[in-house]
Amino acid sequence: MALDYSQKVMDHFINPRNVGEIPDADGIGEAGNPKCGDIMKIYLKVNPDTNIIEDVKFKTFGCASAIASSSMATELIKGRTIEDAWNLTNSAVAEALDGLPPIKMHCSVLAEEAIHTALNDYRQKHGMKTIPMEHHEE
Ligand code: FES
Repeated sequence: MALDYSQKVMDHFINPRNVGEIPDADGIGEAGNPKCGDIMKIYLKVNPDTNIIEDVKFKTFGCASAIASSSMATELIKGRTIEDAWNLTNSAVAEALDGLPPIKMHCSVLAEEAIHTALNDYRQKHGMKTIPMEHHEE
């Protein structure tokens, strides 16, 4: 069965933004889904004076929706503060992609979780309190 993907999902899958890694990243986060086996890794470069995310890259071993979600999520948090980035939900990522098929919503959850893990990694390294991660039901 072919899934009905939006133009934006296809665009971000075929031409993903911010692919790669940041060797001297200030925060690194990884999230995986044990059911499908897909894994997403996020690297953040944060300005410690302003807490603004100056660069972000990702490496995703996963499906088209996971790659499109990573690409869109990195675009959405670049140039934002770590507090703003924390508030990016998986539904906002899916919305920015003009929607994901319902059985592919969990792919956008990976983006939210990988970003949260990377932000907590940054917070921990900079003596800030980490924020409890929310658990998403599928
Ligand atoms: Fe698992 Fe998309 S199918 S992340």
